[in-house]
Amino acid sequence: MRPAAVFALALASTAGFVTGARAQAAGQWRGPEHVWESTCGYCHGAGVAPELRGRGLPPALIKKIVREGYAAMPPFHPSELGDQDLAALADWIAKSQAPPKPPAEAPK
Ligand code: HEC
Repeated sequence: MRPAAVFALALASTAGFVTGARAQAAGQWRGPEHVWESTCGYCHGAGVAPELRGRGLPPALIKKIVREGYAAMPPFHPSELGDQDLAALADWIAKSQAPPKPPAEAPK
């Protein structure tokens, strides 16, 4: 992984971001976009982790990675992101368009 990503991830956990996301009880989400903006997008929309939108990623793969984690990405437990919310999120990501412009200063 790139050093910038490691730094950003360290920063994210220091800021209590991950714990903050975990305090969000299952069923509290206002929809896939809310989940994306409050959790995934923090890394995936900020150039820390690969962009997921507009890639047609299979929902099954997204669900597996979210439950099991992937390298530096933490797994999400059903108590923080319920199965229904996860299914809706995976669908939303799979059908999403790529963001209009690349994130500013994405680390190379
Ligand atoms: C703390 C940062 C962080 C958060 C939050 C996060 N991820 Fe990730 N995710 C990563 C990193 C870093 C990778 C890439 C790991 C690697 O390639 O080494 C990754 C990889 C992935 C991949 C594989 C991407 C690919 O190119 O194959 C998927 C799918 C994914 N994440 C989905 C999600 C979803 C959905 C959420 C929200 C529920 C989420 N992630 C939240 C950091 C994060």
